[in-house]
Amino acid sequence: MYKKKFVFAFVSVVLTVVAATAGNHEHKAVASGANPLVEEMIILDGVFREVVSAVALGDSERVHKALHSMHGTMEKTHEGVHHGTVKIPKNSHRVKEFVKMDKQFHHELEALAHAAHKNDTKKMTALTQKLLAGCVSCHKTFR
Ligand code: HEC
Repeated sequence: MYKKKFVFAFVSVVLTVVAATAGNHEHKAVASGANPLVEEMIILDGVFREVVSAVALGDSERVHKALHSMHGTMEKTHEGVHHGTVKIPKNSHRVKEFVKMDKQFHHELEALAHAAHKNDTKKMTALTQKLLAGCVSCHKTFR
């Protein structure tokens, strides 16, 4: 799933995530300073740019493809939150709220993928706007 989508800069990021996901490499990933949350954000940043562009053009196929490449990154972040490898820069004691926000955010990503699958461009636009508000709101509290 990862392999077919990513090009140029994302390739190295994805490889890091894949390596970190394989349990025995986790230690190495942590030792080299890898932070699953930051990795998730870098991937999310690229995916979301792609999504914005695709939604602007009403290209639901591209939206769907971009979102597919996100799979697995959230799980890694939550694992990191619980194992202490993820440091939330601000309000770090509000972990439950953070996880809830992240889950909600990914739930909306799923809804967007669904809307793209159904070629519902109106819904795609509304959800993309909602997601952008989600980025800003979480950063305000936790970044
Ligand atoms: C549930 C919370 C949450 C959501 C939702 C979220 N972020 Fe983040 N993001 C964070 C936190 C926390 C950091 C700071 C991580 C750090 O510096 O350790 C961050 C950092 C970043 C960074 C900087 C990464 C770096 O290299 O330091 C980018 C880029 C980013 N987010 C993009 C996005 C985009 C784009 C979205 C929405 C499409 C988004 N984020 C949604 C929590 C969130």
